[in-house]
Amino acid sequence: MSDSIEKLKAAFAGESQANRRYLAYAKKADEEGLGQVARLFRAAAAAETVHAHNHMRVAGEIGMTVSNLDEAVSGETYEYTKMYPEFLDIARKEKNKQAEWSFNVANEVEKIHAGLFKAALEAVKNSQKLPDVDYYVCKVCGNTVENAAPDACPICGAPAAQFKKIK
Ligand SMILES: [Fe+2]
Ligand SMILES: [Fe+2]
Repeated sequence: MSDSIEKLKAAFAGESQANRRYLAYAKKADEEGLGQVARLFRAAAAAETVHAHNHMRVAGEIGMTVSNLDEAVSGETYEYTKMYPEFLDIARKEKNKQAEWSFNVANEVEKIHAGLFKAALEAVKNSQKLPDVDYYVCKVCGNTVENAAPDACPICGAPAAQFKKIK
């Protein structure tokens, strides 16, 4: 890998993190009644997304959807088969209950994502149309479900009102 490509990937990682960080800070600023600061954080977050996508594109990391789905399946599978199990072990050893909860719900949801992406990959490979369903995401744990929000999230127990319909 050339140095430029390596740095594009590093910059993509950094800008991606800055985007999520600023969105979290914006939410906090809103809670504190600091609406203008919240908007500034959201503006910068949007700009970091532009930077992240530029770096990703120039690094050649955006393929056709069929290969992007393949990459998504690999990424999610790595997370629930290797990364999160290892992180969970560490959290349990250190008796860090909150870290254990955070890793555990993510781990459970990555399994669901891997399954959804696998099905989509098969459909795209076979030139089949994916069924026309709505997706709902749990604001507490990220659980991702098709069709309708469940009465209670099967992963974290949150009520249906905590599910956000994805446009
Ligand atoms: Fe995921
Ligand atoms: Fe949930």
